[in-house]
Amino acid sequence: MKRRLVAGNWKMNGTNASMTELQQLAAAYPSASTDILICPPATLIARAADLTADSAIRIGAQDCHPAPSGAHTGDISAPMLADAGATAVIVGHSERRENHDESSALVAGKASAAHASGLTALICLGESLAEREAARTLDIIADQLAASVPDTATDADTVIAYEPIWAIGTGLTPSPAQIAEVHDFIRARLGGRFGPDAAGSFRLLYGGSVNPSNAAAIFAIPNVDGALVGGASLKASDFSPIINAL
Ligand code: G3H
Repeated sequence: MKRRLVAGNWKMNGTNASMTELQQLAAAYPSASTDILICPPATLIARAADLTADSAIRIGAQDCHPAPSGAHTGDISAPMLADAGATAVIVGHSERRENHDESSALVAGKASAAHASGLTALICLGESLAEREAARTLDIIADQLAASVPDTATDADTVIAYEPIWAIGTGLTPSPAQIAEVHDFIRARLGGRFGPDAAGSFRLLYGGSVNPSNAAAIFAIPNVDGALVGGASLKASDFSPIINAL
């Protein structure tokens, strides 16, 4: 039985003062029936991993370089993240694809690097508003999925997050039918590539304006195995009800 997952992406937010939020979460979840992941900025990964070591909270990163080491000023490699205590890394977030011109081929390279270091890769996919309005959503998802997920990916080392760009940080969410359509489509495409049994075991997260009020309804949608949460993951008082809704 696959374990469902709630992941929090702190994005470029958080300092040492934010560790109080993490301590509250760690105290609230000494164990849990679902997987819980917090992805703080890289500066906080080692301290966050220490603070949560005796809890159900696991720590992830928000990006990695595809190479293990080298002359890449400012970048951080997957082995470094694992060494700091991360167990997972987000790759292909739309804010990286858009703001840093990241292609799906690069995202696949990052996912492979994550796997080589024993990290779970959370691979993000999602359409823009213009693409949705042009009825291109499933084409975009198909292309991103095909090119961003390495051939060697397994349900144990890879999680897919569907995040419509227009829903991120906007308070807008797709209708349950729209989420179901894309998640069903992703599941079917994974089945075509990895076989139906493996496809059923991949965890598919929804992301985009998930909050304590809408989480339960989103988690009730078929083929939604959890959430990737941005703004509402910054405070334990917002994130806990989302975890509890799963
Ligand atoms: O990675 C998280 C997503 O971009 C969602 O962000 O929950 O603030 O909309 P949000």
